[in-house]
Amino acid sequence: MKKLYFGTNLKMYKNIHQTTSYLKDLISLTKDISQEEIELFVIPSYTSLSSAAGSIDRNYVKLGAQNMCWEEEGQFTGEISPLMLKEMNLDLVMIGHSERRHVFGETDITENKKVKCALEHDFTTLLCIGESLEEKNFDISNEVLRTQLKIGFHNIPTEKISKIWVAYEPVWSIGVNGVPASYQYAEEKHKVIKECLQELFGDAAKAIPVLYGGSVNPQNANDLITQPSIDGLFVGRSAWHADDFNKLIRDAKKAYETA
Ligand code: 13P
Repeated sequence: MKKLYFGTNLKMYKNIHQTTSYLKDLISLTKDISQEEIELFVIPSYTSLSSAAGSIDRNYVKLGAQNMCWEEEGQFTGEISPLMLKEMNLDLVMIGHSERRHVFGETDITENKKVKCALEHDFTTLLCIGESLEEKNFDISNEVLRTQLKIGFHNIPTEKISKIWVAYEPVWSIGVNGVPASYQYAEEKHKVIKECLQELFGDAAKAIPVLYGGSVNPQNANDLITQPSIDGLFVGRSAWHADDFNKLIRDAKKAYETA
């Protein structure tokens, strides 16, 4: 059986205290689940990272940053360097979340610089990709996904594969106004993504986990996780109470095991 990935992006929610107590609750609820079976990760805000990293048992949950600059230091006001993230001993860095691309204007080319830099600093690197509603309506979703992957992973050596994760998050499915993708649609796009990763990295790409994100909730999680090309769920709102996330994880894991 494959390992299942479950993670949450806390976006610009939860202060330091809320983040730490959320993580402690989540760990105590999920620590009996074998690490061989699931990979659990949480991506808090920058300001909560240092306390979170110092106060939880990192054996049970990976901690990540929501963004990172592509330079180690310099005249980059407001940015966070990979060395600063290393200081906190983080496990992973998320690059190219839809809100970074669409609210803050990041491009595939900047995502590529960040991916390169994150991998050079040995972070597990979660590249987020996804088409907008307009692109979907023009029927160019596959082309958009392939472009985001081909630029995002341009000139990344195959030996870095063990540190690469991908999240497919269609822009139209994310957040309070999002419409979740059907599991059939998500599976179809995950296949396109996996094919493209194979073109880029060869057979070794089969090891890259591809997670689905965008309005994952208790009603659709089980149908999504049981799709052959979906390796995990990247959850926002439905994961922000530890007990809800614990239940979603356990239900999805059971659905996968009994499918
Ligand atoms: P929602 O699950 O709230 O739609 O958010 C998904 C997301 O953006 C994860 O990165």
